[in-house]
Amino acid sequence: MKFNNRVVLITGASTGIGKATAIKFAQNGAKLILLDVDFEKLQTVKEQLSQYTSDVMIYHCDISDEASVNRVTKDALDQFGKIDVLVNNAGLWRNYDLFQHISSDTWKKLIDVNLMGTVYVTKAVLEQMLDNGYGRIINVASVAGVYGNANMTHYSATKGAIIAMTKALAKEVSSKGVLVNCVSPGSVSPAEKDDVDYYQDSNLAFMGRTGTTMENANLIYFLASDEASYISGQNIQIDGCRKKQ
Ligand SMILES: NC(=O)c1ccc[n+]([C@@H]2O[C@H](COP(=O)([O-])OP(=O)(O)OC[C@H]3O[C@@H](n4cnc5c(N)ncnc54)[C@H](O)[C@@H]3O)[C@@H](O)[C@H]2O)c1
Repeated sequence: MKFNNRVVLITGASTGIGKATAIKFAQNGAKLILLDVDFEKLQTVKEQLSQYTSDVMIYHCDISDEASVNRVTKDALDQFGKIDVLVNNAGLWRNYDLFQHISSDTWKKLIDVNLMGTVYVTKAVLEQMLDNGYGRIINVASVAGVYGNANMTHYSATKGAIIAMTKALAKEVSSKGVLVNCVSPGSVSPAEKDDVDYYQDSNLAFMGRTGTTMENANLIYFLASDEASYISGQNIQIDGCRKKQ
């Protein structure tokens, strides 16, 4: 299998895109390190993955807590010896309001989780990727970071920052074997649906439907694969041909 002997760390893996991504990598032989603030759900995911692999470590971790990130990544590195692929997927987005109504605390919360969380986890694994001369980092941003979503100024700003960080970091590390890319989903099927192939109507895309969590996982998986060996510093939208708002 393609990911035999590869170790993949996924944040926010208890539901939605993160969970579908864990399934995809597990089906292809990867060893998995899964982080989430919802440990109960992570346990259920681990049980579901047991049909594919028993090499799954799960951690309760709030990615906006740098000490916690450093603790769990150190433990995972002690267990597995390396991390080859990092999928920075965890994020907060279910928060809508006009700019003038969003409190500074809410802004800081989204920046802490979406942006600083991505920074902390990346910092915690990058050095050993550089030492190994191999790494794949895939950040999950959003079309909101490209076009800007009304009533989501804070969220759009954090995702735009992740896209810019991806491009800048790729320029620093691509020549050393670490490829850094970003995926920007449009409308994704509800994370609450357990079926990774579920989709529903959406008038936000010319394709007329949401993207399934597995379609998103497939893109992340491809970017982590050897077939994507000449792709770095890119933001790839997966949005069913988005009607730009
Ligand atoms: N669903 C969409 O329509 C959509 C569209 C564009 C981008 N995205 C992005 O895709 C990613 C996944 O979203 P989703 O909708 O599949 O799942 P989701 O929003 O339902 O869940 C995200 C996961 O991250 C976890 N999480 C939240 N805060 C965390 C923290 N501080 N530390 C650790 N884990 C934390 C949650 O518990 C959850 O498991 C997010 O980054 C989101 O911004 C989603």
